Amino acid sequence: MIEKEKIEEIKRQTDIVGLVSQYIQLKKVGKNYRALCPFHSEKTPSFYVNPEKGIFYCFGCNKGGNAINFLMEYEKMDFPTAVKLLAKNLGIEIETSKGLKYKEIYEANEIACQFYALCLSKNIGKRGRDYLAKRNIDIEKLQDFQLGYAPLSGGLVTYTRQKGVSKQALFKTGLISQSTSSRSLEVFRDRLIFPILNLSGRIIGFGGRSIDDQHRPKYLNSPETPIFKKGDILYGLYQAKKAIRTKNEAILVEGYFDLLSLFQQGIDNLCAPLGTSLTEKQAILISRFAKKVNILFDGDLSGMKAALRAIGLLINVQVDVFVTSLPEDTDPDRFINESGADVLKEAIKSATDFFHFYKKMSKPETVEQEVVLIKDLIQIIGNIHDPIRFDRYLKYASHVFDIPVKTIKKAMQRTDVTDKPVARVKTTTEEWLIAMILNLREHFAQIKSILVSEDFSEPGIKRLYEQLLKDEKIDIDEVLASISEELRQKIYSVLMRDESISKQYFIKAIMNFKNDVEKRKIGAKIKEATAKGDDASVTKYQKELLRIKSTVVVLNQKL
Ligand code: UTP
Ligand code: MN
Repeated sequence: MIEKEKIEEIKRQTDIVGLVSQYIQLKKVGKNYRALCPFHSEKTPSFYVNPEKGIFYCFGCNKGGNAINFLMEYEKMDFPTAVKLLAKNLGIEIETSKGLKYKEIYEANEIACQFYALCLSKNIGKRGRDYLAKRNIDIEKLQDFQLGYAPLSGGLVTYTRQKGVSKQALFKTGLISQSTSSRSLEVFRDRLIFPILNLSGRIIGFGGRSIDDQHRPKYLNSPETPIFKKGDILYGLYQAKKAIRTKNEAILVEGYFDLLSLFQQGIDNLCAPLGTSLTEKQAILISRFAKKVNILFDGDLSGMKAALRAIGLLINVQVDVFVTSLPEDTDPDRFINESGADVLKEAIKSATDFFHFYKKMSKPETVEQEVVLIKDLIQIIGNIHDPIRFDRYLKYASHVFDIPVKTIKKAMQRTDVTDKPVARVKTTTEEWLIAMILNLREHFAQIKSILVSEDFSEPGIKRLYEQLLKDEKIDIDEVLASISEELRQKIYSVLMRDESISKQYFIKAIMNFKNDVEKRKIGAKIKEATAKGDDASVTKYQKELLRIKSTVVVLNQKL
């Protein structure tokens, strides 16, 4: 649990425009900022950020919230993690019980990393050093990667204990397979160790390559832990992110050795998935750092297949995709060692665009196969964001496949690659009112003299209003956390639409609403009395109804 006051302080101090700008490019429009929505695919921007209110809202997919919600959604973080990240940015200190639990894993990883690095530098690590030398890896040039060696005889348990790491904590890193003491349970033995860092530079897991080729599997990662999810992270990204940002291009390789071999020769804008094929999350991650991705996979069939898969994922996150093809029997590591860095650099520079690569790779032999290829490509092209590039590829596809542009465009609409028409949220009067009440809290004294919770017919809104009556100063996020997602979205949509209305207008709206409620109530009473044949009551209620109606008129005149 993080203290409420801390959360308040963090929210107050966080600049949501600055935060969101770290991920997507915002453009100022009036007092808001606008961008293409990072949460759904679209071609015209409908994602807005309002710095005054500290909120964002997308009119396309209806996602909305404050800075914390943005991080939760974008980074797929849980609430405390998002709060902590914001706190860290602001230099505010917080400790949570959950954070402490993770801290233990981070620290144990840190000590384990020290152990492996130490082993690599000592006598016991000669096997590791010899292997690296054999593969032309110069540890000196790769200091940032903190390479290590896990000896056959183990020693991790003893070392970490001496450094004050509890057995429990070591167990949580996944580096030992049981929390009882026995050195045979260490996961990495006689392996080169590649520490895996998250984007803050903290060690979250390890990769290990066997030195003895008889020793399988060739590569082994430490198991997933609360802080280590293979599909969420890219190897080398922490070390390379600056270069990737500067060059606005990321080179994607398949393996640890590919990455290290190229890195030590000055190709430094690299990253690699961790032994699985590229995931959507990884694609999104890369897109945050570079506009262009150059896929440099192994030259064999599986490398090509992996490249084809990666193309689709990367185009989807709006990056420009290029592919560097290598000869069939080689990979980037071998290639740079056999042909030299200059030749590889040349190859990288002359990477083909994804279209050529795709077409070359999937050679159709029948008309049906060709149709599949064309449809695949059309699907991919449809996801290109840059209008110029889109147009170019469209014309190119039209030319190459001899299909009119019109037909391709039609096919695109059918394959649903253009903006998905998302229904804009329509808000009811009650939803609009409650959102405005939350927004104009300074007038709450007056509002509550007019409205009682029973005036709201929608149970969720009624409850929300009751919460406000109970505690006027209640935190808006606390309120919003307790309601349905649907209502939350609607409230944010009103907040972002921000019809900057005067207090008078708003009070008038409330009074009109109140009048409607009363009219409905009396209407019901009239119906009831009529059914009973109670004429006296009917007359009485009709008079009352007239009075209410005239109040509205008076009100309208006054304002
Ligand atoms: P490769 O088999 O292409 O290995 O796997 P490599 O990079 O060429 O390795 P070297 O050169 O023989 O040392 C590419 C990547 O797939 C993952 C690893 O991340 C590896 O770097 N992999 C491979 C595994 O996770 N497990 C395996 O058993 C093999
Ligand atoms: Mn290799």
